[in-house]
Amino acid sequence: MRMYDVIMKKRNGGELSKEEICFFVNGYTVGEIPDYQVSALMMAIYFRGMTEKETYELTMAMAHSGDILDLSRIQGIKVDKHSTGGVGDKTSLALTPMVAACGIPVAKMSGRGLGHTGGTIDKLESFPGFSTSLSTEQFIENINRIGIAIMGQTADLAPADKKLYALRDVTATVDNMSLIASSIMSKKLAAGADAIVLDVKTGSGAFMKKKEDALALAEEMVKIGKNAGRKTIAVISDMDQPLGYAVGNALEVREAIDTLRNEGPEDFVELCLTLGSQMLIAGGKAEDQVNARKMLLEVLENGRALDKLAEFISAQGGDGEVVYHPELLPQASIQKEIAAPSDGYIGHIECDEVGICSLILGGGRETKESEIDLAVGIVLNKKVGDKVSKGETLAILHGNDAKKVAEAEKRYLNACTIVKIPVEKEPMIKKIIGM
Ligand code: URA
Repeated sequence: MRMYDVIMKKRNGGELSKEEICFFVNGYTVGEIPDYQVSALMMAIYFRGMTEKETYELTMAMAHSGDILDLSRIQGIKVDKHSTGGVGDKTSLALTPMVAACGIPVAKMSGRGLGHTGGTIDKLESFPGFSTSLSTEQFIENINRIGIAIMGQTADLAPADKKLYALRDVTATVDNMSLIASSIMSKKLAAGADAIVLDVKTGSGAFMKKKEDALALAEEMVKIGKNAGRKTIAVISDMDQPLGYAVGNALEVREAIDTLRNEGPEDFVELCLTLGSQMLIAGGKAEDQVNARKMLLEVLENGRALDKLAEFISAQGGDGEVVYHPELLPQASIQKEIAAPSDGYIGHIECDEVGICSLILGGGRETKESEIDLAVGIVLNKKVGDKVSKGETLAILHGNDAKKVAEAEKRYLNACTIVKIPVEKEPMIKKIIGM
């Protein structure tokens, strides 16, 4: 088989066979097919698209390009959760202890932030000493002992996706539905859980800005999961403004702790209850949503979810006491209030711009090698639909560098639109697929 023929077939609109897909995925993973030929193929796929069968075969080839985690030594139905990424998305920090406290074994593979979106591992590192560098043995042992463990993506897990994603990132071929769906699902399938709950974000802070695109991506991923024999559910949720109020690593940890103390923001609690319900149902712990929500609310009210977070942080080398003393989390030296320039209602918050403000303050990486400042970020005071008076605080910037704070303030004011007429709040949950 020749790579040239595979590229030409796709360029001319043909459907690639399983053998052709495995040929290029395996050849690229081991370095036998060069970047320039795979770049040409990615561009041909970008313009010609992939059929459902091709997308499935690409997912499976990438999932099997490295190790598949064997979680059979963990008792019970293992449920994984994945978000397509957003701003202020601290969901895993609160949701995983909630679900674990209800008896679902949580075996989670998480990533770091890149671009305007944050990552769970960076946020968890706000707990002094915490580490996600676990061996598979430790990972399984922790889940069997305390019901929850989170590790980083290892080099051996779906290596084809790692290489392909880096190539797509620099060849303008990221935003293709089949390529995104296969990229996400290959990692989830390789991570070994029995059931997968996907949080597909839509809006100005999401990868899929339009609702129709988020819906199509969700449907594609649910089909792949089902064909691979994994129960897969997708929740399409709002990312047209930051989730909750806090954006930035330690600030988001604090909001997640507040949520586990049953004092969380309404939109964030609603998302956790919806995703958590799907996880409890998929994991066989609840028959329906009413029951599942009751169980989740109970572990918030009786403090078991908060204790589970402390237990999990300690088990991975972190200081679990910080969960009960969040004032010990990293704190920025500057806190600058942003005043509203006029009276009215918050009409729109350009969500990815808020993520960029956090990046400017030092809370995210410009490149994969950048050091991040865990203390910095933004805490919103007003969200879409809220009434505001001139001079009132729109948000508070947390920074360690006055120049960066001034730049972020300018950017935040541009991202926030104040209108004269009342604005309706968007529902957090748009749709659930695959129930
Ligand atoms: N997240 C992924 O893991 N892959 C993509 O292609 C896009 C988002």
